[in-house]
Amino acid sequence: MWPHRVIVLMNQGKNPTACPEGVLMALLFRSSVDSEARWKPQLTRLMPELEVRIWPEVGDPAEIDYALVWRPEPGLLASLPNLKLILSLGAGVDHILCDPELPANVPLVRLVDPYMTDAMSEYVALQVLRLHRQDLDYRAQQDAGIWRELDQKNAAERRVGILGAGALGQDAGRKLAALGFDVALWGRSPKTINGKACHAGAAELPALLGRSEILVCLLPLTDRTQAILNAGTLALLPRGAALVNAARGGHLVEEDLLAALASGQLSGAVLDVFRDEPLPAGHPFWRHPRVVVTPHVAAATHPPTAAPIILDNIRRFEAGRPLLNRVDPAQGY
Ligand SMILES: NC(=O)c1ccc[n+]([C@@H]2O[C@H](COP(=O)([O-])OP(=O)(O)OC[C@H]3O[C@@H](n4cnc5c(N)ncnc54)[C@H](OP(=O)(O)O)[C@@H]3O)[C@@H](O)[C@H]2O)c1
Repeated sequence: MWPHRVIVLMNQGKNPTACPEGVLMALLFRSSVDSEARWKPQLTRLMPELEVRIWPEVGDPAEIDYALVWRPEPGLLASLPNLKLILSLGAGVDHILCDPELPANVPLVRLVDPYMTDAMSEYVALQVLRLHRQDLDYRAQQDAGIWRELDQKNAAERRVGILGAGALGQDAGRKLAALGFDVALWGRSPKTINGKACHAGAAELPALLGRSEILVCLLPLTDRTQAILNAGTLALLPRGAALVNAARGGHLVEEDLLAALASGQLSGAVLDVFRDEPLPAGHPFWRHPRVVVTPHVAAATHPPTAAPIILDNIRRFEAGRPLLNRVDPAQGY
């Protein structure tokens, strides 16, 4: 293990006797979407002994202890020989695990921030209510100047299925149930949430799909969940069902969704994530009358709340305490 560099932190011209003596750790920040200006002040204010370096200003790669990343370049993490811990800037880690050179012996943690969880549940509630209350139809009627009342169910009569029974799926499910929806969840392993058994494993997926008038995807993207929203699974939904995908674009076979919308098997879709982001100009989703597009904003990382959570894991590592939200690379989440 590379030893910490012991330094005297400079006190910027103030009383030198007040200079704290400390152990400096170096963290490399690399994100293709998050601004360093939003992160560096939060991190250094809360942990002054942490030197934050912003990619590509890596300095000596051997001095980097921690990497805080979103979609790091393949090989970047492998180029840091004394890396102790990889911290994801998001709840998902598919953007890290896809690196073929990812160092196998360095632990990886993901971000679970109650602020983000609340944001995701707001997004899911908004979109489920939009589909439940036939907002796509009323938008179309407004465009055509049509005043017509459509038959409307109550939330208690609307069955919602959530793929993913983790931090996000459980919270969204609880809040949708509080709105009155008839909610069921699906996960990998059997579990009971709020006294209700979740559907679990591949064998119970058809049952979950068969009851889901509105299907919400909140799964991690792994080898097993890649392209899980395809012609076969969409065909198992009740005719006229609607989809909300707020997880990853890789879950959805986009052409299969377009075909399901064209045939009437699906009545609408709300998509926050896409195979190619930003969604390319001219993509059929942009102007599709039954598709709502949002630009991967369902639950953005929020530095003021996320920074303390990230630093807690660094402190845990330094103290030899168990890490929170450690990823199992074999499972992919
Ligand atoms: N659009 C956005 O802005 C945004 C923001 C944040 C997160 N996300 C996405 O949301 C995903 C979920 O986040 P989370 O915090 O809820 O993750 P999590 O707590 O790890 O939960 C994942 C859930 O998926 C289930 N699962 C995993 N593999 C499965 C499989 N093969 N079959 C069935 N179920 C499977 C897990 O089952 P078990 O319970 O049995 O383990 C668990 O219930 C993230 O990975 C990320 O991609 C998107």
